Amino acid sequence: MNVLDFKKRKKSGQKISMVTVYDYTSACIAARTDIDVLLVGDSAAMTMHGFASTLPATIEMMELHSASVARAVQAQSASSLNDAQKTKKFVVADLPFLSYRKDLRANVEAAERLMRTGAHAVKLEGAVGNEDFIRHLVESGVPVMGHIGLTPQSVHQLGGFRVQGREVSDAERLLAAARSLEEAGAFSIVLECVPSALARQITQNLSIPTIGIGAGPDTDGQVLVWQDLLGLNTEFRPRFVRSYCAGAEIFTQALNSYARDVSSGAFPSLKESYE
Ligand code: KIV
Repeated sequence: MNVLDFKKRKKSGQKISMVTVYDYTSACIAARTDIDVLLVGDSAAMTMHGFASTLPATIEMMELHSASVARAVQAQSASSLNDAQKTKKFVVADLPFLSYRKDLRANVEAAERLMRTGAHAVKLEGAVGNEDFIRHLVESGVPVMGHIGLTPQSVHQLGGFRVQGREVSDAERLLAAARSLEEAGAFSIVLECVPSALARQITQNLSIPTIGIGAGPDTDGQVLVWQDLLGLNTEFRPRFVRSYCAGAEIFTQALNSYARDVSSGAFPSLKESYE
């Protein structure tokens, strides 16, 4: 998958699958799957560091996560044991809170730091006030993914994590935002927590693909957070999440089995020991 494939997918109707991933081991697993795109989301602040929102994510935090994921994709692509096509994942790294709302020099420096980790593109939230920066990045060779609807970096401005675009005026504003992101040169847009009908309308009005999360079935692709997809997060379960395995349960059982075996002396066996 490369940046040109996004438009091809839009044209052909083949949906794009994206998942967040933040660390080397998980990214090695993801790189060997059929998933198209790996997103190093600033949700790392919540899922990996335990913060209550994405606001504490910093460029240093995102650099570390993005570099780990990019190294995994690199390693898996290089490995002769794997199907090279399968492992060529497109890596998108999130620009964290306010890192792209400064002057042009500082904004570019933030994007440069993420691209130098090995990411193939950056993602940023919102349209108004970002258009010139997006244009500048695209003209400088940096692919940009947009993100509208529920933009978690604006959670305090939005008054909480809530569905966006229910009112006609808000829906019109989101459609205009999507158009202006496309016009500025974004290659794709995440639509987060918007009504399905609005997501469909935005998708039909763009020539670049939309990738939905909580945006219904009619976007050009879907994204889920790693911990949600794998059932690792038992505390938070919004209606748009589908967990494809009971990860927390599987891990708990495995850890308890290990603890039991240690306590009974069943682990390690002679075979698992050196003579
Ligand atoms: O940071 C993130 O995980 C995201 C996705 C929810 C799209 O931006």
